[in-house]
This record gives sequence, structure tokens and C-alpha cells, in this order.
Amino acid sequence: MISSALINVMVKAARRAGRSLKRDFGEVENLQVSLKGPANFVSLADKRAEEMLYDDLSKARPGYGFIGEEGGNREGSDKSHTWVVDPLDGTTNFLHGIPHFAISIGLVRDDTPIAGVIYNPANEELYIAERGKGAFLNDTRLRVANRNQLHDCVIGCGLPHLGRGDFGQNQREMAALQPKVAGLRRFGTASLDLAAVAAGRFDGFWERNLSPWDIAAGIVMIREAGGTVGDINGGDVLKTGDIVAGNEVIHSALVRILKPLS
Ligand code: IPD
Ligand code: CA
Ligand code: CA
Ligand code: CA
Repeated sequence: MISSALINVMVKAARRAGRSLKRDFGEVENLQVSLKGPANFVSLADKRAEEMLYDDLSKARPGYGFIGEEGGNREGSDKSHTWVVDPLDGTTNFLHGIPHFAISIGLVRDDTPIAGVIYNPANEELYIAERGKGAFLNDTRLRVANRNQLHDCVIGCGLPHLGRGDFGQNQREMAALQPKVAGLRRFGTASLDLAAVAAGRFDGFWERNLSPWDIAAGIVMIREAGGTVGDINGGDVLKTGDIVAGNEVIHSALVRILKPLS
């Protein structure tokens, strides 16, 4: 377990917002669900959690900038540190009563994620990582899986859906990967997918068009668990959101298949 002032602040904030999400889970009729775009839901649960995270994190580090999915953005006086926060990752799962969603808090310094907390309040799995200090699930140190043949691997992914993504490209990717792997999985919460790579549950993961708040915490989690994570085409993944991850060997194997399909 990491005990640093920074991680304590992040964990406390995640747990308080987590209690709010837990209260709201299953109360969908009272959550004023609306659409930001096709199949892009937002609810009072997302907004309440973001407000709490904004308050707690801003109070603890007043100078840092803040980027939250639901718009609580603020420029900080400290230009090199920014909180990058998804108050409810997996809103679609949440609104369908599927207990697989998370709060994701990343701290980015000069474009590099340096600390992350990902918390699923439904099963109380708390993932934490800080650069140079390792990655943990509750009290257990994390290490990415060591399988190095795709045919042994379970690979997580995201899927395009109504209003979002390139269906043709995704079909080409699926056709290329499905016959080569032991299994593909799509659980619907990108931060937990990345945490699953860090924990060695998934051997690898890829998804396109993600946002910085989906991945900032997960990136540092995977790196601190000894994994490799980046943009499919070698760009800046926080900007492109086209992410691929695994141990070094599986990451390269996935890039070899996915990059030509970009
Ligand atoms: C979504 C989830 C999902 C991913 C979507 C994201 P949200 O986040 O992370 O796994 O496939 O692209 O938008 O909207 O539930 O915070
Ligand atoms: Ca959303
Ligand atoms: Ca998200
Ligand atoms: Ca969200």
C-alpha cells in the first residue's frame, strides 16, 4: 500500500464520491437522466460525484488545474499539475444496474500521468498507483500478466456504439484478433479495463476514441505494474485516446495487428 499525502487526498476523495454513487445506484428514476449525444447518458449521479471530487481535490491542492468529464474545468495557477477526473466511468452500466463502474482520478504533471486512483464502490476494489511507488489493488501489489503468446491471452476492448466510433475499423480489428486470442472481453468501463491489465486479469486491452479522464489514472496504474501502454500509432495517447496496453510482448503483438488497420 502507498501512504503518501497525495494518495491519501485522492483516496479520501474517491471514497466520498463512491458513497454518493452507491446511494444513487439503483435509483435511476430519481436521477434525471439526460442525453449529451446519441447513447451518451449523464445523470445526477455523475454530476454529484464530480462536484464532490472537484471540491475535495481543489481544497487539498488549490493551485492545480481540474478537468472533469461533466465540465467542472478550471485552470490552475500551477500550470504543470492537473487533476483529470471521471466521476462516473461506466454510466451506461450504472444506469442499467450493472455493478461495474468506477471513479477515476488521475494526476497529470506536464502531460504525464504521475498518480492514479480507480475505485469501484460496488465491490470496493480500490486501485492506486504513484510514479516510482508501484500499483496496488487494496493491499496487494500489482504486476501485469506474463503470458507472451496471444493464443493464451484474454484481451479486453471497447466497442463502437450508437453515435460513437468507426464500425468498419472495429470489425476489421475484431476479424484480425478474434482467431488469434483465447478470448475477447467488453465490460464497458475503460478505467476498470486498464486496472484489469495492471492486475494481470486482462493480458491486454485496446480501445479507440477514449477521453483523457477515461485513461489518465489507468496509464500510471499499468506502468507502475510493469506494463506498457501508449497510443496505437505511437502518438500521445492522452491526446488521441487510441490506447493499447499489455506487458511489453503483448503490447507489441497488439500494435503489430492494430496499427495497419488505423
Ligand atoms: C465510457 C466507458 C466505456 C467506453 C466509452 C466511455 P463513461 O465512459 O469508459 O467503457 O467504451 O467510450 O465513454 O461515458 O461511462 O464515463
Ligand atoms: Ca459519459
Ligand atoms: Ca468515461
Ligand atoms: Ca463518465
